[in-house]
Amino acid sequence: MNTFMLALHSLLRWGILILLVVSIIKSFSAWQNKKVFTKGDRKLWLFTLIFAHTNLLVGLYLLLFGRFGIISTGLPEGVKLMKDRFFRFYWVEHPTGLILAIILITLGYGMSKKTVNDEIKFKKAFYFFLIALIFILATVPWPFREIVGRPWVPTM
Ligand code: HEM
Repeated sequence: MNTFMLALHSLLRWGILILLVVSIIKSFSAWQNKKVFTKGDRKLWLFTLIFAHTNLLVGLYLLLFGRFGIISTGLPEGVKLMKDRFFRFYWVEHPTGLILAIILITLGYGMSKKTVNDEIKFKKAFYFFLIALIFILATVPWPFREIVGRPWVPTM
């Protein structure tokens, strides 16, 4: 179960990144070219939201019941959470950075429901999605990160 959830979590990252980058490029271009907000735009933002929220649930599962879960294993004897780079990353920095990113994605999607003109819709969504992307890039355990780094794709 844990192996499956971890692989799913790792793979969903790529889905989120692709959808988010497309949402950013399309919102920027639609904002600049004063395009009309379409059903296709709403669908794209909705899929980005669904992928992000699914990974939030999988992430919460891993944080509580995973290999180094708060409930499943707890902190090893003698480890101080904020002094240990590994646990501080996986229990604090990674969840906080990514929950903030998911809140921003939710706010971006929320623009599709706002009764404002389409230019403002695209502009605000563009900024929400862009900041979300920065948070994701900064807090994912990329393979080149020391101590916390993980593979580009799941290893089964
Ligand atoms: C957009 C959202 C997220 C992305 C893109 C993301 C990405 C990742 C990646 C790539 C890994 C490494 C997977 C591997 O070892 O192959 C990981 C691990 C982990 N993530 Fe996330 N994450 C997200 C959200 C969250 C959230 C919201 C939480 C907690 C509330 C969370 C908790 C964890 C935990 C605990 C691990 C380590 C699990 C283990 O090694 O057993 N993640 N995440």
